[in-house]
Amino acid sequence: MEFKAMRGFSDILPPATRRWEMLEERAREVLEGFGFSEIRVPILERAELFSRSIGEETDIVEKEMYTFEDRSGDCVTLRPEATASMVRAYIEHKLYAADPMAKLYSIGPMFRHERPQKGRHRQFHQINVEVFGVSQPMIDAEVMAILMHYLSLVEATNCHLQINSLGCPHCRLEYKEILRAFLKDHLSGLCEDCRRRMERNPLRTFDCKVPGCQEIMSKAPPISDYLCPPCAEHFAEVRKYLEILEIVYEVNPRMVRGLDYYARTTFEVVAGGLGAQNAVAAGGRYDQLVAALGGPDIPGIGFAIGMERLLLITPNKTLPSGPSLFIAALGEGLRRKAFGLSYKLNRACVKTLIDYEGRSLKAQMRRADKVGARYVLIIGENEQRTGQAILRDMKEKKQEEIPLSSIFEEIVKRLKEIAL
Ligand code: HAM
Repeated sequence: MEFKAMRGFSDILPPATRRWEMLEERAREVLEGFGFSEIRVPILERAELFSRSIGEETDIVEKEMYTFEDRSGDCVTLRPEATASMVRAYIEHKLYAADPMAKLYSIGPMFRHERPQKGRHRQFHQINVEVFGVSQPMIDAEVMAILMHYLSLVEATNCHLQINSLGCPHCRLEYKEILRAFLKDHLSGLCEDCRRRMERNPLRTFDCKVPGCQEIMSKAPPISDYLCPPCAEHFAEVRKYLEILEIVYEVNPRMVRGLDYYARTTFEVVAGGLGAQNAVAAGGRYDQLVAALGGPDIPGIGFAIGMERLLLITPNKTLPSGPSLFIAALGEGLRRKAFGLSYKLNRACVKTLIDYEGRSLKAQMRRADKVGARYVLIIGENEQRTGQAILRDMKEKKQEEIPLSSIFEEIVKRLKEIAL
C-alpha cells in the first residue's frame, strides 16, 4: 500500500518552511510591538464549545467539523478556528481578573472538512489575534490597522479592507423579521438549506454558495440599514478612526461573515489573485461571546489571517537554504578534525556540513557545490604541513589562507560578519 497525505492535508517541505517561518516571525514582531502576547491552546476541544460559539446553523458546524467520539465517549472536535478556544482559555484561567483587557495571539493549524481547491484546505493555518475588554471603536480601527500594517510589511499584494456592521442582538431582532419577509417573497428560488435556516437563523442565508440563492441575496435588504442608534454611532466612529490612521477601506453592506458570534464591526481583507477563495484575513467584534460561554460580560474583537492564502499573495523570497560552509578534508586524521570542527561550528550557529563518506577532494568539491555551500574549507595534507587551511568563497571565486591553530575562531569571525 502506498501512503499519501489525505486530500486537503499538505506536507510543508523545505525550502517553503522558511517562508512560513519568516511570515510567522514577522507576525510575532508586529504583534509583540503592539503589546500582544502569545497563547497556545489545544487543537482538540469539546464539540459543544464550537457549536455554542460559532452557531448550530452555520456551515462550519453543520457541514465542516471533524467531530468524533474519543475513547472516553466524549464528543470532541478538531478546532475549525481559534477564537472559541481563546475565549474558553480567557474565561477558564480568569485572565480578566487583574485587568479585563488582554491582547493575545496564537498561530497554528485549523481543520475544516471543505472541498479542497486553490486557497482552501482541510488542514490550514491561521495567525489569530484577539483583544478582550475594550468596547470602544478606537480598538476596532487599531486592530484593522495592525492587520493592514502586517500585510504590507510582508508585501502582500492587492489587499482591500472591507468592513460592515452587523449590529447588536437588539437591532438584529428587527432586521431578522425584515429579512424573513424578504426570503418568504423569494421562497421558490431558495435551496432547501436556506429554507430551513430562514426561520431560526435567516442571516445565514447570506453564506449560501448555491448560485440561485446568491443571486437572490444580492438583492436582500442590507443589515447596515437597520442599525440601532448606538450601533450606527459605533460604526461611524470606527470609520472615523480608520481615517485618522489613514487606512483605506470600503463598506460592504452585505458582508455577514460565516460565524454567529459576531456583533457590530466585521471585516475581511480580500485579495485579487486569490480566485474564488479571496479572503486572506477576516474578523470582527464578538461582544456577547465571553458571557455566552459562561464568562463575565466582557467584549472582544479579533481576526485571523489564512497562512496558505497569504503565501499565495506574498513574494516567493526564500533565504538560501544550503549549508553555508562545507569542510572538505582529506585523510583519516583530518576527517576526524573536520568532524569535531563541524560540530563546534554548528553549535556556534555556523551552518556546516562535512563529507561522511571519505570521498576524493574533487568529489567533495562537487558535493559542496550541489548543497549550495557559500564557503568551502579545504584541509588536506598540504594544509596540515603548512599549518594553513584554505577558505574558498564559492560565490566570489576567491580564496584565502587561515591558520589551522585558530581555525574555529577565524571561521566564526569571518562567517558571522557576512549575512549568509
Ligand atoms: P474565518 O473567516 O472563518 O474566521 O477564517 C479566517 C481566515 O482563515 C479566512 O479569511 C481564510 O484566509 C482562512 N481560511 C478559512 N478557511 C480556510 C480553509 N478551508 N483553507 C484555507 N484557509 C482558510 C475565523 O476563523 C475567525 N475565528 C476569525 C476571528 C478571529 N474573528 C475574531 N477573531
